[in-house]
Amino acid sequence: MGCSDRLAIVTGTSSGIGAALANALLTDGWTVVGLARREAGIDHPSYRHVAVDLGDLDALKRVAENDLGTLVTDNRWTRVALVNNAAISGGKQGLEDTDPDELAHLLIVNTVSPIYLMGFITGTVLPAVALRVVNISSGAAVRAFPGLGDYCTSKAALRMAGMVLAEELTSELRPGGRRVNAAVFSYEPGVVDTPMQTASRSSSLEEFPWGQPFKDFKEQGLLEQPGDVIGEVVDFISGDDQDTFVEKRFGG
Ligand SMILES: NC(=O)c1ccc[n+]([C@@H]2O[C@H](COP(=O)([O-])OP(=O)(O)OC[C@H]3O[C@@H](n4cnc5c(N)ncnc54)[C@H](OP(=O)(O)O)[C@@H]3O)[C@@H](O)[C@H]2O)c1
Repeated sequence: MGCSDRLAIVTGTSSGIGAALANALLTDGWTVVGLARREAGIDHPSYRHVAVDLGDLDALKRVAENDLGTLVTDNRWTRVALVNNAAISGGKQGLEDTDPDELAHLLIVNTVSPIYLMGFITGTVLPAVALRVVNISSGAAVRAFPGLGDYCTSKAALRMAGMVLAEELTSELRPGGRRVNAAVFSYEPGVVDTPMQTASRSSSLEEFPWGQPFKDFKEQGLLEQPGDVIGEVVDFISGDDQDTFVEKRFGG
């Protein structure tokens, strides 16, 4: 898996922003382990793919305990990053039509699994190793969009979990003491031309009454390309001397 001393674990490398990020990190000399259900189609000696469904917590725990734990404690790493990028966009229904099983599944994929991975990686990476955690967020984490209640809720909770982790990392009361050289980044990539956006504008307005903005993004040429929105993530995980919690939006 290459000879790099920097490891990035990136979820959702089979598509969109995650695929672009994995390729950029590989070009930059990182070793990348990607997690997704589908293959990523990335052919690089420093890339390894782990096929896992983030909606299946037992499968994810097996991957963490049997695979990621050994990987991240390898003493060749001087820097380890986790990028929680994978997500699904939800049912595009008003909250009055909530299906509790679908909501629970979305929250597992978008919130529970990323929080579990944050905790697992933070607790497992050796204390002397630089640790960076990135949660790919959304404007929907901080703004209420009708019809996106499930997605908004999931992203708001993930953003807050990152803020809590940062507080814990700097707390003297943390078991084992403060964690040095660790930082968390919550990053809103803007509106990006990916399959998630395609799906969001593909429903009719009868199916998704609040869907017009997604059609407008495309028609008005407002979509960014995935490769153009990832620079801040690469900079953050590569950099030092950041605050323990940093929040940014693409172009903001
Ligand atoms: N595109 C935008 O405009 C936009 C705006 C704001 C925020 N974001 C955020 O950016 C991130 C990336 O989204 P994107 O636009 O690049 O979407 P995308 O092209 O649909 O990619 C989503 C990725 O998540 C993975 N994924 C989904 N469900 C999964 C599961 N159950 N288990 C494992 N992996 C799963 C997919 O892999 P598999 O299907 O192979 O499993 C895929 O690689 C997401 O967090 C999204 O919320 C996107």
